[in-house]
Amino acid sequence: MEPWTIRGRSALITGGNAGIGRATATELARRGADVTIGVRDRGRGEAAVAAIEEETGRSVGILDIDLASIDSVRTAAERFAADHPRLDVLLLNAGVFYGRHRTTVDGFEATIGINHLGHFLLAGLLFPRLLAAGAARVITVASSAHHRPRTFDVDELPDWRGRYRGMDAYARSKLANVLFATELARRTAGTRVSSYSLHPGMVSTRIAQDGDTVLVGLLWKLGRFRFLGPTDGAATSVMLATAPDIEDRSGRYFSEGREARPSRLAQDPQIARRLWRRSEEIVGLRFRPDR
Ligand SMILES: NC(=O)c1ccc[n+]([C@@H]2O[C@H](COP(=O)([O-])OP(=O)(O)OC[C@H]3O[C@@H](n4cnc5c(N)ncnc54)[C@H](OP(=O)(O)O)[C@@H]3O)[C@@H](O)[C@H]2O)c1
Repeated sequence: MEPWTIRGRSALITGGNAGIGRATATELARRGADVTIGVRDRGRGEAAVAAIEEETGRSVGILDIDLASIDSVRTAAERFAADHPRLDVLLLNAGVFYGRHRTTVDGFEATIGINHLGHFLLAGLLFPRLLAAGAARVITVASSAHHRPRTFDVDELPDWRGRYRGMDAYARSKLANVLFATELARRTAGTRVSSYSLHPGMVSTRIAQDGDTVLVGLLWKLGRFRFLGPTDGAATSVMLATAPDIEDRSGRYFSEGREARPSRLAQDPQIARRLWRRSEEIVGLRFRPDR
């Protein structure tokens, strides 16, 4: 078996035009990966590609994808699969924090819709390309916010019942990210696809800044002085994409470069299985890597 090296491998990074995703794309391109960034806005995407190419001297691909739309994710996966016979590293990085309740094109509560369901569908549709890679890694950018929920009612998905709170919706979606990564690892055991989730640290990006609640936006802006910059914030994603020997840690959660213990709920295999089945029903895809 060839030792893992990122050079020459294909990597798809959602939310690759900004923040942590863009810094991750830049570093992987610099290290010789064949990087494609998934973007929901062509203009912002092209500007990012130009900047990354200028900085690294490597060419970078662009893929239009709106994770808030099942149709868009399906079209994006088809386009990517048509151009790429294999995918070595799938970085599920894009994320939103919404202070006010919003819905996706398909009517899902938008935070879970974008942060989890869109990514679940994308990973499911591209799974044959991951298998074709021989060895492949799926890296899900979660958050330490996943520790916040005390319960997780999977049947509530894809809606939000009761009074909406942005932080609770965000935390629920990040818990779903960790559960997804763990369950994917369980289902891919015995294959050469592995799966990880991570907390990048508190990173100065736009995520909560455009915030539709004044208070969160303000706190985020003030907190920025103590946060990591995007390059340091990308370090855990880069480590998981490039480390030579981590396959035996498939399913684990990493925080700021080190393996860490996820929340009790995040380690519950029954919740993970129920979330998987519910996500399949909602997005209309049978995603069965274990079959
Ligand atoms: N920053 C932190 O302190 C922190 C802490 C813990 C975890 N995280 C996680 O880190 C990840 C990256 O966040 P960030 O801090 O780098 O935030 P960011 O700078 O706001 O970047 C978020 C990225 O997601 C993209 N995106 C948003 N909605 C999308 C959609 N519907 N379809 C496709 N792409 C979409 C954005 O595209 P546009 O540019 O078009 O909006 C942007 O590229 C997220 O998963 C976040 O939850 C961040």
